[in-house]
Amino acid sequence: QGDPRLKAISEAIRVVPHFPKPGIMFQDITTLLLDPKAFKDTVDIFVDRYRDMGISVVAGVEARGFMFGPSIALAIGAKFVPLRKPRKLPGEVISESYVLEYGKDCLEMHVGAVQPGERALVIDDLVATGGTLSAAIRLLERAGAHVVECACVVGLREVKGQHGLNGKPLYILVEPR
Ligand code: PRP
Repeated sequence: QGDPRLKAISEAIRVVPHFPKPGIMFQDITTLLLDPKAFKDTVDIFVDRYRDMGISVVAGVEARGFMFGPSIALAIGAKFVPLRKPRKLPGEVISESYVLEYGKDCLEMHVGAVQPGERALVIDDLVATGGTLSAAIRLLERAGAHVVECACVVGLREVKGQHGLNGKPLYILVEPR
């Protein structure tokens, strides 16, 4: 893509080697949030892409999907639904677990937050293996929603082929540095 905003977005993301453990090049989007122009451009690119796609649900993955999702939801006139780590949501929930490099985690969504037939966008800061996004997709589909796309600020485009994301398209702004 030739969008000149993408270069500045990529450069605003700090790369922290060996965090949280040796060998990991951590993509730190908190420095993107410190740059109002790059932060706004990030949200605007998503808003321009999703505004006319009939999306009524933006589902954000805890924790960093919460930093982009609500702005996108407000701008496109959709509701925001938090997909949370276990035991955080007070109401009745459905849960989907996923495999991590070491062990397992789980995402939960409130029952009734999404109605059957709604069109949903899943948003997170980063996709690595795609396990987290796959769990998010399963939650929304169990509620009867149609997942239009998953969107991340940072990711490897190969993930699409790797994991499939249950056949859902993945939209990524920049590759990890
Ligand atoms: C990170 C990131 C994604 C997920 C991607 O979150 O924000 O949610 O990992 O990894 P995957 O594609 O291999 O599933 P993390 O698990 O660190 O949780 P946190 O946001 O609560 O810190």
